[in-house]
Amino acid sequence: MIKAESIENLKSIIDIVDVIGNYVQLKKQGSNYAALCPFHSEKTPSFVVSPSKQIFHCFGCGASGDAIKFIMDIEKLTYPEAIEKLANMYNFKLEYTSSNNFVHIDLLEKVNSFYISNLYKNKEALNYLKERGLFDSTIEKFQLGYAPGSFEQIQFFKNANLNNKDLIELGVLNESGEYPRLIERITFPIFSQSGKIIAFGGRTISNHPAKYINFTNTKIFNKSKTFYGLNFAREHILRSKKIIIVEGYMDVIMLHQAGIENATATLGTALTKEHLPILQKLKPNITVAYDSDTAGINAALKASKLLYKEYFEGGVVLFDEGEDPADAVKKNKNIQEIMNNKISFSDFIIEYTLKKYNLKNPVAKKDAIEEIKSYINTLPELLKEDFANKAARFLQISPQFLKVKTKNFSQNLNSNKKIDIAEASIIKTLYENPEIMNEIVEYLTPEMFKTHSYELSEIYKENFENPKLIEIVLRDDVKIHDLKTLKNQIRKILIPFYQEKITQIKLNEHVETNKKMHMLKMLNLKLLRLKKGELVESDSTF
Ligand code: CTP
Ligand code: MN
Repeated sequence: MIKAESIENLKSIIDIVDVIGNYVQLKKQGSNYAALCPFHSEKTPSFVVSPSKQIFHCFGCGASGDAIKFIMDIEKLTYPEAIEKLANMYNFKLEYTSSNNFVHIDLLEKVNSFYISNLYKNKEALNYLKERGLFDSTIEKFQLGYAPGSFEQIQFFKNANLNNKDLIELGVLNESGEYPRLIERITFPIFSQSGKIIAFGGRTISNHPAKYINFTNTKIFNKSKTFYGLNFAREHILRSKKIIIVEGYMDVIMLHQAGIENATATLGTALTKEHLPILQKLKPNITVAYDSDTAGINAALKASKLLYKEYFEGGVVLFDEGEDPADAVKKNKNIQEIMNNKISFSDFIIEYTLKKYNLKNPVAKKDAIEEIKSYINTLPELLKEDFANKAARFLQISPQFLKVKTKNFSQNLNSNKKIDIAEASIIKTLYENPEIMNEIVEYLTPEMFKTHSYELSEIYKENFENPKLIEIVLRDDVKIHDLKTLKNQIRKILIPFYQEKITQIKLNEHVETNKKMHMLKMLNLKLLRLKKGELVESDSTF
């Protein structure tokens, strides 16, 4: 976590007029500044910034808050992300509490500098990148480097006093700590959304059978939740409301070099459910631009099925046989034109699902219909009919044949378990910031939740793909808290929980008086501490 005093120090140097001035044109108006509100469309300015109060307020739409809130809203960032963004703007070095993962990030920065310096010492490596068509400025922007031989790296780690245990934990060294994970490879630092290095990928330049090696998941890196290049692409995505998802490092890099800066990659893995919350937040129109080989097409089909089901708009772009976006850029093809020529998700799903079957053969056609039907079955009610009609047209059959059981409305309501927003917000906060779990788990146990015990226990088990969790994470009405609010929210749940415990014990005739007194005393102490604003450890004695 970022230290509270560090946040206060940052706050004391930021000026809201500067911050907002980067996004909208401010006009002096008396002691305040006025502008057209960036949060709703208007013709006359009702958005006011007060330098003395360091707040903004829109008299039109009601948006208001301090500089941090402004950054959260305009950039769609969480509280800590907004703090980091502001710190970057002001070149301010934030301090983190020692239990935090961010301490380690410095270590990866050091390793990165070492790799970068080695790139410029190794002609072959640098030449390789030049031959692939990368400009110097591109190599610099993506901070590409070169991991030299094992011995040289170990020597450097020793001389730089880097802790072996940390190097293992962060993936730089293999599990036994004997070898660096990347040896004699071009290095690609992988950044978090706020631009911190969280892992590396490495490409061989000598035809090693493993073309790429990536860090395995670590406590700060989860491959199936990361988009490579999103730190650079984020503001372009927000501005254009469009994202391009490609397969590889080189695709992202080459597209950015060609001026297409809203490109990001799923790191060799297919798009997973875990990626969806990030996309849901940005709400862009999505272009999936994977390689045009069998693996790429299958991955695009999987991604389309996932995205269509979640109501995302967009489609798939296909490159020429055996070509990927990086190749197309290198060949100077008109990328914009290719990108505009996409097949919508639903058309792509239908066309490529049916491609596998010889539809002239009635038996194969029946199988094809079954496969389409089983996908329709997984769709939300609202999408079922549209999709079935389209598929029927394609198959030249009556939509009747694709009719699937649709639930009636009342059944639907019943199956929608009711949601408890307070509990759900805690779950969403932990989902988005799993590193806080360690701080919370001793205070909050699943039995303390009235509605979402199951989901809380799933979060603790880190089963992030559980659909019940995804369902909560994707809801806009469920907010993500900062740590302070989170703790307060937990207190609000603990207080009635312990009060109820006290009542139960008082009424319990099977506990002997002495023990009862002792238990009540402990519980009352807990309640007192809770009411004073502390959190209290849960224990299993009661
Ligand atoms: N990948 C991987 N391990 C491999 C091959 C691929 O992790 N053995 C991942 C990498 O993230 C890679 C992505 O899958 O960037 C796409 O794979 P591929 O298309 O084979 O790589 P390219 O990026 O096209 O590789 P290059 O252009 O460098 O040959
Ligand atoms: Mn490729």
